[in-house]
Amino acid sequence: MAAMRVWIWWYFALGALLQNHTSVAVTVSYDQRALKLDGNRRMLVSGSIHYPRSTPTMWPGLIAKAKKGGLDVIQTYVFWSGHEPTQGVYNFAGRYDLPKFLRLVHEAGMYVNLRIGPYVCAEWNFGGFPGWLRFLPGIEFRTDNESFKNETQRFVNYLVEMLKSENLFAWQDGPIILAQIENEYGSIDAVYGEAGQKYLNWIANMAVATNISVPWIMCNQPDAPPSVIDTCNGFYCDGFRPNSEGKPALWTENWTGWLCRFQSWGEGAPTRPVQDIAFAVARFFQKGGSFMHYYMYHGGTNFERSAMEGVTTNYDYDAPIDEYGDVRQPKWGHLKDLHAALKLCELCLVGVDTVPSEISLGPYQEAHVYNSSTGACAAFLASWGTDDSTVLFQGQSYDLPAWSVSILPDCKSVVFNTAKVGVQSMTMTMQSAIPVTNWVSYREPLEPWGSTFSTNELVEQIATTKDTTDYLWYTTNVEVAESDAPNGLAQATLVMSYLRDAAHIFVNKVYAGTKSAHGSEASQSISLRPGINSVKVLSMTTGLQGTGPFLEKEKAGIQFGIRVEGLPSGAIIMQRNTWTYQVGLQGENNRLFESNGSLSAVWSTSTDVSNQMSLSWFKRGTALLP
Ligand code: GAL
Repeated sequence: MAAMRVWIWWYFALGALLQNHTSVAVTVSYDQRALKLDGNRRMLVSGSIHYPRSTPTMWPGLIAKAKKGGLDVIQTYVFWSGHEPTQGVYNFAGRYDLPKFLRLVHEAGMYVNLRIGPYVCAEWNFGGFPGWLRFLPGIEFRTDNESFKNETQRFVNYLVEMLKSENLFAWQDGPIILAQIENEYGSIDAVYGEAGQKYLNWIANMAVATNISVPWIMCNQPDAPPSVIDTCNGFYCDGFRPNSEGKPALWTENWTGWLCRFQSWGEGAPTRPVQDIAFAVARFFQKGGSFMHYYMYHGGTNFERSAMEGVTTNYDYDAPIDEYGDVRQPKWGHLKDLHAALKLCELCLVGVDTVPSEISLGPYQEAHVYNSSTGACAAFLASWGTDDSTVLFQGQSYDLPAWSVSILPDCKSVVFNTAKVGVQSMTMTMQSAIPVTNWVSYREPLEPWGSTFSTNELVEQIATTKDTTDYLWYTTNVEVAESDAPNGLAQATLVMSYLRDAAHIFVNKVYAGTKSAHGSEASQSISLRPGINSVKVLSMTTGLQGTGPFLEKEKAGIQFGIRVEGLPSGAIIMQRNTWTYQVGLQGENNRLFESNGSLSAVWSTSTDVSNQMSLSWFKRGTALLP
């Protein structure tokens, strides 16, 4: 107990020292063991909070909870699409007020790892690229393409100069200690061959030339050039070594709840047990890691149209802080205890130049002992087996649960074991504060409400909407022979050869059904009458693709072919019909979802969703009644 008190004293003394430390300019460097702040090696714990995924009023609370949870660093991507929605027109207001967010982190006495991208992935619409980028003549993304490189360099330079002018880098007494360029380019660069290699070197050199005087990193980029530190992303990164001797082992994404699938519409939230996260973190530091980052620490919300294709507006991520900004227990608390235990070892961990060799404690069990030159000693005992066991370490026996790490900041007493959760669990139940009544509705017109255009082909949706909306109406007529509908009605199937992402189908102004498909065929049963039938398809994107190569070539909507099948006289091929197109919805155009916009509509108290009322806007509150 006395030993624990001494350690706690050290922990607070170190904390106080570091807190003061951030109030003056800091130089950042590194060696093979760790990042160095003002020449001192540091073991740093970091977590992602993406500023546009919460509101500015939430930021101070989120940052305070991260600090209380034992984090030293906040990491965020920079979201180009939000900062330059129109080419050359910059936006740093509201949820995109990056300087304000960074200043708040600094005021909390924390550091920042800024991942500038400009490609970020992040389950963000178009991976963070602005929609207009795709329409620049001859552009190809993330390869040796002049147009792409010019725009990338222009945005990075603009951003860096702005951050410098706001004194946000560590040497300026700001919080930024680390910056990232690109994101996991290593997972696609092979597709681009030699041009990919040229681009990789170009973007690394371009970043370094901005002279930000903090180290640059590239994640999952084993062939990052010497001027940039390659870092690890993954569920486990223990044993990771960067590509050259003088670089430290940094872990930029420890996924707190992703589990290789995102939260998609109609599916439950993926989760990851905190015991496993804690095990992965402790193993990383045990085996020589020096900077560990939770992706995400607060997931938040994909506001407006910022979610990538198929991903929900909820980006909670099962992170230690939930979507609403409340701590998630026991996740937040168990990791807080872990960080406190790790900090007790920090001086020993940074005190060695070379990571000590493992000492076998039995099958699937090992220890690492860190002896500092001051005579202090910290040890980690790990089991990655499936059975609980008792191990002998330096003449003493220790219980070691399966798949766990015990942390001994004095090489004697276990202050933390990753599998033993001492924090109470908490289950959140949501209740509506206001009774869900008084709904009013507004019917979206099925007839054109604004400008339309017609052509004898199927247009590609993204090129047509310019990603200003998720909606595009495809409208045409289909003529059915009397003989195909002997009883006055023919049952048939509307087949779309390629649909992305979903469509509401209306025949003769009556709702027929909704289909979703990811660039594959989709079919809908329909009823047709003899003579002319109107067929209207409201095609919808659910965000643009955010991962993979060739993003600029992505297609959406109805493509390649559309036909009616199942009539006695054979199929009716429709792709060469005259198609009339309308971009967007009227309610969206009039911004019915905002208080001012909603005043522009005459709302009805009828909320009957049957039949023709199916395409309607709903709003709660009598205040909106005419
Ligand atoms: C990584 C990527 C992140 C995020 C994460 C999954 O591969 O770098 O931006 O997409 O996967 O949440």
